[in-house]
Amino acid sequence: MRILGRVPLVGEIEVGGAKNLALPAIAASILTDEKVMLSNVPNLTDISSLLDLMTHLGSDVNFDSEKHLLELSTKAIKSTIAPYDFVRKMRASILVLGPLVTRFRKASVSLPGGCSIGARGVDIHISALRHLGADISIENGYINASAPNGLIGCDITFPITTVTGTENVLMAAVLGKGTTRLINAAMEPEIVALCELLNEMGAEISGVGTPIIIVEGVDSLHGTKFEIMPDRIETGTYAIAAAATDGKLLLKNCKCEHLSSFFEILSLTGVSYEKTAEGVLVYNRNKKIHPVDIQTAPYPGFPTDLQAQYTVLMSMCNGTASISENIFENRFMHIPELSRMGANISIHGKTAVVTGVSKLKGAQVMATDLRASVSLVIAGLIAEGETIINRLYHIDRGYENIEAKLNGCGASLERFSV
Ligand code: EPU
Repeated sequence: MRILGRVPLVGEIEVGGAKNLALPAIAASILTDEKVMLSNVPNLTDISSLLDLMTHLGSDVNFDSEKHLLELSTKAIKSTIAPYDFVRKMRASILVLGPLVTRFRKASVSLPGGCSIGARGVDIHISALRHLGADISIENGYINASAPNGLIGCDITFPITTVTGTENVLMAAVLGKGTTRLINAAMEPEIVALCELLNEMGAEISGVGTPIIIVEGVDSLHGTKFEIMPDRIETGTYAIAAAATDGKLLLKNCKCEHLSSFFEILSLTGVSYEKTAEGVLVYNRNKKIHPVDIQTAPYPGFPTDLQAQYTVLMSMCNGTASISENIFENRFMHIPELSRMGANISIHGKTAVVTGVSKLKGAQVMATDLRASVSLVIAGLIAEGETIINRLYHIDRGYENIEAKLNGCGASLERFSV
């Protein structure tokens, strides 16, 4: 992508549906033989990767990507195996493990391989499913799970909070026998919404939005219609882009209440935001960015998925800010690229120390993962001259129509192939 920088973003951007809810919602459709209809499903490569896997398993998949409507029907199954070729494209494919083993009593899911942002094991998913009675072995790179008599509810204490781990175990427990208590469960808005979807399908889940989720197993679930909520990370990303470019953006169709800690920090940096009937208006009234330290943390803390974008904002601050990444051990890969654009950042273990500079300069840079790639787009938007981002494909995993959305607000982004 070629970006010509130094243009304030002014205008309106429509926020799409939440990727990290659409993924478990798609996997949840495995839990019933009836039709699940999802609306506001974003058209992203991560979604199509999971839909390819669903088709492989035997689900009937009908996605109108322009209308963002998705119909899924898993009356029967052709296979309970999620092969390596699907899982290697997207780690969240692990989300089919819990639903398959609880409804079809067996599943083989390729172990996700390495990941650029951290080791990201699935040991907690596996040990929790074992607690529910699944017999699990790891062979030839596959997690082979079976539960011929079904899963049995119990207390599961997560040693650390895990988002997809909580989702996987939740989906497994809803068709288990008896009561399951998930202790130290993740509390992300996506978990709350997944519980709402499952309850609409006939599950009996309480304690939703707290660290102790209680699931009373039921015999079967039924189909439903469900709307995917707005993507809070896309919202936060464009809010930072508005602030960093000294622009003014109305972000339509978003839920600010899912981003409270983020907006609190943003206002401390001097950036203004106003909630309106349509969404949130973000602009930088002071024209200066104050340094504000952050630490990433599970919800309701500052989201790790906005850390890279925030680092770009701090690279223009009038002072020094420290940014600690507490969720993933290798999520600073954007920093050497930002340094090539003139940012002044040093890394000390899990903390990056950012001293603001008066300007960034365009350069050729390399995207390494989804959020790093969008942070480089924001850097390109504020930099003087031309920025070229290589390996841009990561961005299509989580940002639908990013060029159209940003170019519609005055940016100059152009994708090309060599
Ligand atoms: N972890 C383990 N073992 C496990 C599970 C997790 O060691 O069995 C560790 C991870 O390595 C990590 C920490 O626990 O250090 C937390 O990871 P978590 O399991 O919460 O992450 P995830 O479920 O794999 C989801 C999002 C990520 C987001 C994280 C944290 C989805 C599909 N993915 O990942 O989203 O960063 O939670 O909020 O929901 C993104 O959208 O760019 C993205 C990476």
